[in-house]
Amino acid sequence: MRAEIFPQGLALGQNFCNRVVEQEHLLQNIQDARATLLMSPRRYGKTSLVTHIINKLNIPFAGIDLYSELDEAEIQNSILTGIGKLVYSVESTTTKAVKLATEFFSGLNVSFRYQGAEIELELNKSKQSSAKTILSVLKKLDELLIKKKKKAILFFDEFQRVAEISTSGTIEGSIRHIAQQSKNIAFVFSGSNRRLLESMFYDSKKPLYKLCDRINLDRISKVDYEPFIQNLAKTKWNKILDQGTLDAIFNFTECHPYYVNVLCHKLWLFKEFPTEEIVSLTWHKYVVEEKSNILSEIDLLSKNQAKLLIAIAKYGDEMQPMSKEFLSLTAFSLSSASQAVDILCKKDYLYLNDKKQYRIVDPLIKSLFQK
Ligand SMILES: Nc1ncnc2c1ncn2[C@@H]1O[C@H](COP(=O)(O)OP(=O)(O)OP(=O)(O)O)[C@@H](O)[C@H]1O
Ligand SMILES: [Mg+2]
Repeated sequence: MRAEIFPQGLALGQNFCNRVVEQEHLLQNIQDARATLLMSPRRYGKTSLVTHIINKLNIPFAGIDLYSELDEAEIQNSILTGIGKLVYSVESTTTKAVKLATEFFSGLNVSFRYQGAEIELELNKSKQSSAKTILSVLKKLDELLIKKKKKAILFFDEFQRVAEISTSGTIEGSIRHIAQQSKNIAFVFSGSNRRLLESMFYDSKKPLYKLCDRINLDRISKVDYEPFIQNLAKTKWNKILDQGTLDAIFNFTECHPYYVNVLCHKLWLFKEFPTEEIVSLTWHKYVVEEKSNILSEIDLLSKNQAKLLIAIAKYGDEMQPMSKEFLSLTAFSLSSASQAVDILCKKDYLYLNDKKQYRIVDPLIKSLFQK
């Protein structure tokens, strides 16, 4: 089966563009077992970057995605299952692996079974708190890796769920305890709620305060996208796109990695060689299809925030939201505009670009309301 080009899911292999500096940085942190916090607005490529690096390295790893966990016991089970798979992958043969994993879990009130190709963990009822069980299993993992002289990666995705679920901070405390001392486990934390993640890692009263080295993911630049897209155009149509076509792709998507992929995926399904006009028609058709989704997302905002966001979509290219011109055109007071801007940034609807201008994160919102 041929791999999908410009996927909406993870970008791996030939679909992975650039991120050279971030790849180097993450690789170094993993090699030094330095805990890493990977941050970006939604759908910029955090999970793709970590998965891409993990695929390059020949190191045992556990991907622990906490997006659907509902309580502390589920977080604990997710972590234990991830570590179970990791321990299992440390050995080269199935027999050895089953033996090692069974031994590993024997003192932890957990029974381990290998069903088909899947690992099943069954937790025996115990009075021990989830935080304590997590601490014990992490400690055991560290000891095992020291003994085997191996390194491993624990990648926690949607990690903000821990703070949402476990308000006492005890699970975070257990993780900190091992993360700050282990020389064999590289912890990588990521998630889509930046506000919550920042409060977990930058509040001096929280257990994970200043634990991590931080990597920020930005959009991928035009300079890096250009050869990548042109290469895939050559494969598909045996020629490169005209500059106008390429510019249209960049203008509509504003180099947001998810939207570059959505738009290019549609274009690459056509037999026809894409022109500027085809790009524009394809994008605007997509905007119309997504209209009701965009409107329901905007419904989540207060009246003032929604009004300001729409005004920025309409006029934001020419004037900044706190400028005199903008305020008099939109009848916002300076204080209510700056309050709404602040919240829209925190909720990832707006961001400050390198020229210190406020921009809308989601290019679909901008296109829908732009005249
Ligand atoms: N380096 C890259 N090159 C090309 N496309 C990429 C790259 N990184 C991510 N993408 C694309 O961007 C989109 C988002 O990727 P991904 O799911 O990795 O982001 P994320 O930041 O983890 O998202 P979320 O906030 O929803 O967890 C996907 O369509 C993916 O294919
Ligand atoms: Mg992700």
